[in-house]
Amino acid sequence: MNKSGMIPARKSQLKFYRDIALYSKGDDNKFVLYKPAGVTMKEMRVEEDRVPGDLYIKAEEKIKGLQEAQKGFNLELASNIRSGEPAEVKETLVTLIEETLAEPRSGSLEGVSGTIDVMMSDYAQETDIIKQLLSVSSTDYSTTLHSINVMAFALAFALYVNMPRSKTKVLGISALLHDVGKTKINQEVLQAPRKLTDEEFIEIKRHTTVGYDTLRYCKFADKNISLAALEHHEKLDGSGYPNGNNRISEIAQIIGIIDCYEALTNNDRPYRSAMVPRETLELLVGDVKAGKFNKDIFQQFAYSLVGK
Ligand SMILES: [Fe+2]
Ligand SMILES: [Fe+2]
Repeated sequence: MNKSGMIPARKSQLKFYRDIALYSKGDDNKFVLYKPAGVTMKEMRVEEDRVPGDLYIKAEEKIKGLQEAQKGFNLELASNIRSGEPAEVKETLVTLIEETLAEPRSGSLEGVSGTIDVMMSDYAQETDIIKQLLSVSSTDYSTTLHSINVMAFALAFALYVNMPRSKTKVLGISALLHDVGKTKINQEVLQAPRKLTDEEFIEIKRHTTVGYDTLRYCKFADKNISLAALEHHEKLDGSGYPNGNNRISEIAQIIGIIDCYEALTNNDRPYRSAMVPRETLELLVGDVKAGKFNKDIFQQFAYSLVGK
């Protein structure tokens, strides 16, 4: 932030701002009001491609702006779902989750709750969009994309087992945010396309406790959401991390299985090829037999992949 208390506005959020005022920089480097609060760009009849390159908002309005944008993205998502275009749904989700994970703290992370509402809507179920989402691949594999895929598998699982709505919502939010801690660890280590050193792996493991601490301070009513961030790498035989616990909350167990499956089967990572579903499931059966994963949850997940 500079002395003026202004920060650059995030481009993808601009069109959603109504209560947020926008400023541009005049010739004398002073900030001048570009769009007042109370009106959108569209209402000002500014075409999207004619918006100036660098607009600014007041730094103290950053979270308020993101919240306004999240609402707008959620509406856009609902309309994408209605038009039944999985690629557009995924694109909106990626932008929305990327914007949210760029401010991983209370006041912003709670916004994904509305996203899960949209994903659980009747429209989403009628159009079978959740399953279709998983076949849309992207070239840039990231925490964002992984989180969206895990959410899609988790919601498909919840539908398959007829999970109650309120629990499904907690599962969906937990899935989207289970790796939020990854936004706060060393990004070079996170993206290293090679086998990690012991020290680097210790850094990666921190994403569980960091995510837990982040989500604990959010205003989610259900503590399973922060627990899922903490426990999704724990195993029932105590061989997981960060604590080697063998008592793991159910939501975290579901996400733990889906997390492994997604990481092994996605084909979005350029430096290694994905495993096919069948061999991945076989590998996970080995983990179930070794006592790492709950057999019933695993079976239901496997059925949810094929079941209609
Ligand atoms: Fe993780
Ligand atoms: Fe994960």
